[in-house]
Amino acid sequence: MDIKTSAWITVSQDTGDICPVFRRQFATGKAIDKAELQITVLGVYKAEINDQRVGDFVLAPGWTSYDHRLQVQTYDVTALLQKENDLRVTVGRGWFRSPMPGWMDSADKRRRYAQPCGLIALLRICYADGTEETVQTDENWQWAESPVRFSEIYDGERADARIVPENWQPVKPLDWSRDILIPQEGEAIRETERVAVRQILRTPAGEIVIDFGQEVTGYVEFTVDARAADKVSFTHAEVLDKDGNFYNENYRSAKALVEYTCREGKQTWHPQLTFFGFRYIKLLSWPGEARPESFTAIVVHSDMKRTGWLKSGNAELNQLFSNILWGQRGNFLDVPTDCPQRDERLGWTGDAEVFIKTASYLFDTERFFKKWLHDMTADQRESGEIGQVIPDVMPEGESSAAWGDAATICPWQVYQTYGDASVLEDQFECMRKWVDFITGVTTTSNLWTDHFHFGDWLGLDAPDGSYKGSSREDFIASAFYAYSTALVVKAGKLLGKDVCAYEKLHGDIVAAFRKTFPEYKTQTEHVLAVHFELAENPQKTADALAEMVKSDGVQLRTGFVGTPYILHVLSNYGHADLAWSLLLRREYPGWLYSVAKGATTLWEHWDNIKPDGSFWSDDMNSFNHYAYGAVGDWVFNVACGIQPLEPGFARARIAPHPDSRLHNLSGTLDTAHGRIRSAWKHTEDGVRYEIDTPVAAEIVINGKIYAVEPGSYIF
Ligand code: BGC
Repeated sequence: MDIKTSAWITVSQDTGDICPVFRRQFATGKAIDKAELQITVLGVYKAEINDQRVGDFVLAPGWTSYDHRLQVQTYDVTALLQKENDLRVTVGRGWFRSPMPGWMDSADKRRRYAQPCGLIALLRICYADGTEETVQTDENWQWAESPVRFSEIYDGERADARIVPENWQPVKPLDWSRDILIPQEGEAIRETERVAVRQILRTPAGEIVIDFGQEVTGYVEFTVDARAADKVSFTHAEVLDKDGNFYNENYRSAKALVEYTCREGKQTWHPQLTFFGFRYIKLLSWPGEARPESFTAIVVHSDMKRTGWLKSGNAELNQLFSNILWGQRGNFLDVPTDCPQRDERLGWTGDAEVFIKTASYLFDTERFFKKWLHDMTADQRESGEIGQVIPDVMPEGESSAAWGDAATICPWQVYQTYGDASVLEDQFECMRKWVDFITGVTTTSNLWTDHFHFGDWLGLDAPDGSYKGSSREDFIASAFYAYSTALVVKAGKLLGKDVCAYEKLHGDIVAAFRKTFPEYKTQTEHVLAVHFELAENPQKTADALAEMVKSDGVQLRTGFVGTPYILHVLSNYGHADLAWSLLLRREYPGWLYSVAKGATTLWEHWDNIKPDGSFWSDDMNSFNHYAYGAVGDWVFNVACGIQPLEPGFARARIAPHPDSRLHNLSGTLDTAHGRIRSAWKHTEDGVRYEIDTPVAAEIVINGKIYAVEPGSYIF
């Protein structure tokens, strides 16, 4: 029987901030062979049977385009059932009913905030004698107030452990769509690691601050021996300020506050229905003395399988690799988010587009991205426009080049890394409609002109007071228009579709682009012209880029748009040494600058903390923004040299680019065809290479090409 035969239920009166708990009590008369619970809510839930947690999915049902798609989880609950049973489900606001995004008001935000909480479930019990029984959400359920008095994505959670649900009242039927119900598509969100306290600090301002030594996303579990009514409360932060005091102004309006009222005795608790991005907490209230063993940070994210590893002979570079990894762990919470702490935590398309290649190497993200891309399709607007964030909780926001192009770039990358064309099959219409949207909205045919854009976001060549780099917006938009159209052509051909019109369009865009933009003015403009195959003379353009980088003091001037590709463009055209110089740079702006400043995740700006210790700003200063972690794909593809010759690494090209400033480097990638490993190190006799390939490969060492069968090789 299907969950769609169950009824949606809700509370019979408004509970305000208080999270309701629903319950159903029932008896099972006979020996049980198997019992399975299908369940989902409008909000996020925690389900228990007879006081035992059902499954280990945190923040279920995850975040989808709720107007169109709501995931249903299925749990085997055979072991939890007894003769007399008590099934309870606590429901929090979650992404469904929290006021998102935090920093702005909109009609859609008010609409979502006013939506009801809801529960739908079906428990199917198969008895050993072959008979079956079902327990479904219906008028036989009851609800009461739970100990969770407030729970919301940005502001945190408040609980009162003294409260035992009572005054059970009948539920109300809820008129809500059941057509939106879909089986679980993404990876389950789980607790994946427990991080112990590194130190407890007393700051110069007299605050008690607990340092976990690593920025994580999740929540803090604490154990306390207390008197009833004692209070525990704390707030979260990513960094301390330059005086060593607690600082979280950069969370903006997100309160990220935990408040807990104790019951009598020893107890352990953590927030149930929300999450935080943090490295530190400041204790606002704690009964007795705070001891390290009383606190644990629990890391929560989409439970993806790790597939990529990088290791070098340079401790700072290894820390950068670790920061990239933690950036992904902190921001792949069912949806690829910009950051996990402030009043955003949104599925910004541009950020995902920039980081997806690296992400797809470090973890198996195929399922994660396929689900998110289905939400993108669901939220694609009539015109083909793609919202700035997916799920699209900013429907009034206009598309931007490089952000909306996630529609073509992300499916293409999933196919390149994993080799299964079904992602293209699923997304082709969405890809095509995105290109059609540009064609329909532009004011100049074959270019994309006169539209809102984020430009080369946070480009280092931004004029004073602007977030946008100096690269021309029409230039960036037209370059991405060309690239997205090229990807539609490639995907369409692969799927056997007629894409003649898009092929012609691509040729026309390239011609118009060359005519309109004969010169490139910024680093990012050079990068895009070469990377998207628009430059008539790519070698000359890459050489000019190299000169520009040098005359800029061997420094990046790029932002979100140019940074992911600049090292590739340099190394593809004979400037690998310069690419290495940029990667190994320890001063601002450079990837190792934040490492030297103690970062444990990637920063939103190269100088979130300036050389003098002050902050870039209070309002746009995330310490866990993965975008610049995109450099990880250059380390895999070029520094270690592991590249797919066919999608999914069915054949590989392994062309490492060692640099004398780094003693050794190794990259390991688990592909659909097995583990590829490429390592090099400097020895007295020159560079020694070790390569393992499970597929036929082309190994390129010192310009010489070796065609090899699967095996292990040393050069
Ligand atoms: C986000 C970015 C995002 C941008 C759009 C910011 O507030 O944090 O990462 O891509 O807005 O420009």
